[in-house]
Parts: sequence; structure tokens; C-alpha cells
Amino acid sequence: MIRRTALISGGTGGLGTAMCRALADAGHTVVANDLPSLETQCKEWQAKQRDDGYAFELAFADVTDYDACAAMVEDLQARVGTVEILVNNAGITRDGVFKKMSLERWQTVLDASLGGMFNLTRQVFEGMLEGGWGRVINISSLNGQKGQFGQANYSAAKAGAHGLTMALAQEGARNGVTVNSISPGYIGTEMVMAIPEDVRNSIVAQIPVGRLGEPDEIAHVVRFLTDEKSGFITGANIDINGGQWMH
Ligand code: CAA
Repeated sequence: MIRRTALISGGTGGLGTAMCRALADAGHTVVANDLPSLETQCKEWQAKQRDDGYAFELAFADVTDYDACAAMVEDLQARVGTVEILVNNAGITRDGVFKKMSLERWQTVLDASLGGMFNLTRQVFEGMLEGGWGRVINISSLNGQKGQFGQANYSAAKAGAHGLTMALAQEGARNGVTVNSISPGYIGTEMVMAIPEDVRNSIVAQIPVGRLGEPDEIAHVVRFLTDEKSGFITGANIDINGGQWMH
């Protein structure tokens, strides 16, 4: 196998941690990005991962800040190497019905969940084209495919993420750079556990598999898409939702 450098935004969170481990298990050098304001807890996370046998690098930048993303990638280039695998995993929710949604709630979710993908991918995509190999994986959502009551902002951002995927896939195809989306359904992370219990229970009742997904079940597909043999999969959107949305 070829050892690559992988950057995962929001890498210390629920899904991010599972992705970091899966890509390390595949033999890659893994860098977890997170917010500068979380530096202390990220270092604790890094120490815990080390205790479990995983040596991850940390890189701090708010993905809504283009210049900070550029500086972070420049620093990584010198410190770790060229980023050849990017997982745009950072995303946030600010749920609420549209008739009460403030501009701030709309903008915050779009900036982090979609704008962040531009800000980070823009720093690494050209290098991937020049190097003749790259993997970009955008974490979209079931709710970007079917829409979700109370998530106009998040559904719009996540649908946009797949639009970005399809356009970039065409720009990367000739140079060995694949770009794909993964659309997780409801996975047992903090984000989903923050949904009021009664609402969450009614959502789980709509999942044919009968349970929430596991972060490892997303990470497994991230690893698959980054594989050397996955070079013919590009512009795809992979559903991982327990059968909640079939189309
Ligand atoms: N379809 C139609 N009507 C609905 C509905 C739905 N899915 N859900 C709620 N309603 C109705 C309610 O029945 C209620 O009607 P009445 O006023 O007639 O009683 C009305 O809408 C208001 O509902 P709530 O009492 O729930 O309103 P609220 O303001 O307290 O909460 C909400 C609204 C914040 C959107 C809440 O319903 C909620 O948290 N929903 C879940 C949203 C969700 O799925 N978020 C996913 C987060 S995880 C994630 O995003 C990860 C991922 O990628 C999957």
C-alpha cells in the first residue's frame, strides 16, 4: 500500500474520530483538524488516541476562515507533507422551523457546513491535480437528499455539498482525483443525541434497520473510497442510512 497524508476536518468529533482511526488502520498519516478554541480538549483527545495506539497529528483552523485554512495547509505541507486525502467532515446544525429562522442561523450553518468545504478543498485540490492522485470525500447527509422539517439551513448546505462534489469530480477526473459524497443518516453521535428524545425516537421508528448507525459504519466507507482501487468511483453519493431513504 502507498502511505498518504489524510486531513479530516472536524476530526476529533464523533464521526471524525472513527474516520481518523479507519484511515490510520489503512496505513495513512492522519491529521485531525478542529477549531482553535478547542485546542486544550483536542490535545486531551490526541493523548487518549495515543494511549489506544493511534498517533494523530492535530491542525487548527476554523473552516469558515479561508485565510486560516490556507495557513494551516501551508504549515502541514512543511510539517507533514502534501495532503492527498481530504475528508470534509466538519459541519454544524442550528435546527428550527423556517418561519422563525434568523439570518444568523441560516448563515452560520451554510458557512460552516458548505463554505468550509470550499475553504479547505481550495487549498489542496490543485496540489492533488498536479500530483496526479487525490481523494476528496464530502460528508453530506440524508437530509440534504430528502430535506428535513426544521433543517432548511442544514438541508440546503448538505444538498449543496453534493453539487460541489459532482462539479469537482469532473474537474479532477483526468488527473486521478476522485471526489465523492457520503450521506449518513442518523448516526449515534452528539449531534443526533442533541435532538429531543421524543423526536429522536420517532425518527428511529422510521429507520428500517431499526437503530441509529454507528460512526464506524461511516468510517468504513471513507476508507473504501480512499483506497487505491476506488479510482473509478467519482461524483457518487453513497447512502448510509439504514434504509431510511431509498431512491
Ligand atoms: N413533519 C411535519 N410536521 C412536523 C414534523 C415533521 N417532520 N416535525 C414536527 N412537526 C410539527 C409538529 O407536529 C408541531 O405541530 P403543531 O404546532 O401543529 O403541534 C410543529 O411542527 C412544531 O413541532 P415541534 O414542537 O417539534 O417544534 P419545535 O419548535 O419545538 O422544534 C424542531 C422544531 C427543532 C425542528 C424539532 O422538531 C426537531 O429537533 N426536529 C428534528 C430535526 C432533525 O431531524 N435534526 C437532525 C439533526 S442530526 C443531523 O442533522 C445529522 C444528519 O445529517 C442526519
